[in-house]
Amino acid sequence: MSRKLFVTTALPYANAPFHIGHIMEYIQADIWVRFQRMQQDDGAPREVHFVCADDAHGAPIMIAAEKAGKTPQEFVREIAEGRKKPLGGFHINFDNWDSTDSPENHELSREIYKNLKANGLIDARTIEQFFDPVKEMFLPDRYIKGECPKCGAKDQNGDSCEVCGSVYAPTDLKNPYSVLSGTSPVLKTSEHFFFRLSDPQCVAFLREWALGAVNGHPRLQPEVANKAKEWLEGKDGAESGLSDWDISRDAPYFGIEIPDAPGKYFYVWLDAPVGYLASLKNYFRKTGGDFDAFMADPQTEQYHFIGKDIIYFHTLFWPAMLHFSGKKTPDNVFVHGFITVSGEKMSKSRGTGISPLRYLDIGMDPEWLRYYIAAKLNAHVEDVDFTAEDFIARVNADLIGKYVNIASRAAGFIFKKFGGRIDPGIPESSDSLLGHLRAGADEIASLYEAREYGRVLRQIMQYADMVNAYTDEHKPWVLAKDPMYEALLHEVCSKLLEAFRILTIYLKPVLPALAEKVEAFLNLPSMQWADVYTPMKSGHLINAYTHLMQRVDERLMDALLEPDAPVPGAGESNDAAQAIEHIAPEITIEDFEKVDLRVAKIVECSLVDGANRLLRLSLDVGEGRLRNVFAGIRSAYQPEDLVGKMTVMVANLAPRKMKFGISEGMVLAASDPDDSGIYILQPWPGATPGMKIR
Ligand code: MSP
Ligand code: ZN
Repeated sequence: MSRKLFVTTALPYANAPFHIGHIMEYIQADIWVRFQRMQQDDGAPREVHFVCADDAHGAPIMIAAEKAGKTPQEFVREIAEGRKKPLGGFHINFDNWDSTDSPENHELSREIYKNLKANGLIDARTIEQFFDPVKEMFLPDRYIKGECPKCGAKDQNGDSCEVCGSVYAPTDLKNPYSVLSGTSPVLKTSEHFFFRLSDPQCVAFLREWALGAVNGHPRLQPEVANKAKEWLEGKDGAESGLSDWDISRDAPYFGIEIPDAPGKYFYVWLDAPVGYLASLKNYFRKTGGDFDAFMADPQTEQYHFIGKDIIYFHTLFWPAMLHFSGKKTPDNVFVHGFITVSGEKMSKSRGTGISPLRYLDIGMDPEWLRYYIAAKLNAHVEDVDFTAEDFIARVNADLIGKYVNIASRAAGFIFKKFGGRIDPGIPESSDSLLGHLRAGADEIASLYEAREYGRVLRQIMQYADMVNAYTDEHKPWVLAKDPMYEALLHEVCSKLLEAFRILTIYLKPVLPALAEKVEAFLNLPSMQWADVYTPMKSGHLINAYTHLMQRVDERLMDALLEPDAPVPGAGESNDAAQAIEHIAPEITIEDFEKVDLRVAKIVECSLVDGANRLLRLSLDVGEGRLRNVFAGIRSAYQPEDLVGKMTVMVANLAPRKMKFGISEGMVLAASDPDDSGIYILQPWPGATPGMKIR
């Protein structure tokens, strides 16, 4: 039986574009999902569904929409439209992106609530709360400010004082005011619904779920289990630290109306995680899958990737909601730390110095970031610090220097000398380079499975070091000089490309687009994990090597971190694009072949009396005689600059009679449209007079 996986990331609030923290979480989950999709169980591919959605509801979004003069639905839709570009840009491959305001979520949230109620876990209680008489709404704590009851500091939040640090209830504030209208709020009673989390059966279930073991291993990460334990046991030996959870809000509220309770809405955190299920259901509806059957299947595994700030919701509320409404509970919750930039915590509202869209807009390669984030991630709840120097070093020195460069060296020889055909020679043994590389497949797979991406990449880079040591030992560039070593050269380069293929499979979850380029270059279908064990056969034909990945330019980093810095390349190429001369009409290869271009040696060069634009050149094109050519390059070169140099000439141009003599050809030079800069062409070292250019 092959595994069936249901994977989600946290649903981002639909009040702002993605920040780098979101992208980090999506990259972490996307790598895991791509890894799973490359696996087979008993020869059958795994079934993996990966979904997300906008978290649309709640007071802040309602208020933001009102400020923007939009309905909350319009507001949320516009945010959703901005999601596609960064998701596609960073190769994040969700199967579905939905919204918690969907019909599926309305329906599922109500169903879960009804089941909880039927199980006696919902209480109605009357509470007293601040009410804004102007806005005619109850005020969430964050919208109430006032003077600290302890020290009297002005404009303090409803829950704690930033000046003296004391903690209190909003009703303790002196001279409280509503942040929304500025008026003083009044106390008003209202009936609220509570999920009875303190109920002994809830506590017992959560102890089992959060602190128990699965297949002999603790379910949760140790630091997450510790948190849960603290919450479950309560401080100072109390029976349980869990309090009942207020799950209702009064109108006006952007949310889902509670069944049989007009004017009451679910608090956003009740329907938000239900959005995981709703997005999957929506996806199945669109693709013809059976949602109920999938969720009822005991084989189905359910995983949520989240950040450390929302552990409480995902390890207590969510499993309890599911369990006591008769639904499948999550198999696990995978928690990551926060990303900081150069040690600075980013603010929720302002984000950080790194904007995901700017990263893409200035032309940075999305796979650099995927690689970098992966290199920094492990299975623990540790923060990740992004620094420019570290980023440049890992991408340029490791990714490009160690891995990408393996291919370019070897492919050149295979192409030039062996017509693009692979021939690894004698069969390999298990203690050979390739044997070592292949033997790592299982270990690397278990590291991916355990989300130990940093260790995955360290292992792969160690293999890359071995491959590079093999290259240095066999020196293909030396072998290539002696025809006696032709077979060995063929074997060495074929093995290098096979090693490159294996490493590419290992890196494919992190670098999907690069892997695709490699598949095209090696002329292979989309590679799966098990393809590690199926080497390219003798005689396999590869395609010409195309450039796989650029190095990071430091100036790009500056442009990313300082929005005012210039974007390298952008200005230059735009200017060039404006100034470039029109490309001439298309020609065929036959047209091109009419022009006989030859390497020429400049044997003599002199000024021409009476012609201050011209130089007279004597050119050797290997014919046993010299040609006389006049060239209009006097403004750019002195005769002595050119004597002894190689250049390129048109050797079959009809001779032209000039005032100073006959010109028997033409040398090639590049120039601006107005001839302000002239650059004579020069072949690479090694070209000899008379060689034909084709
Ligand atoms: N809407 C809730 C989640 C509901 S899930 C049913 C929410 N949204 S959020 O937009 O604030 O955060 C979405 C995810 O991004 C969370 O997992 C959060 O931990 C993560 N991150 C927010 N800031 C982050 C960093 N600086 N670094 C890494 N991840 C961070 O919470
Ligand atoms: Zn105070």
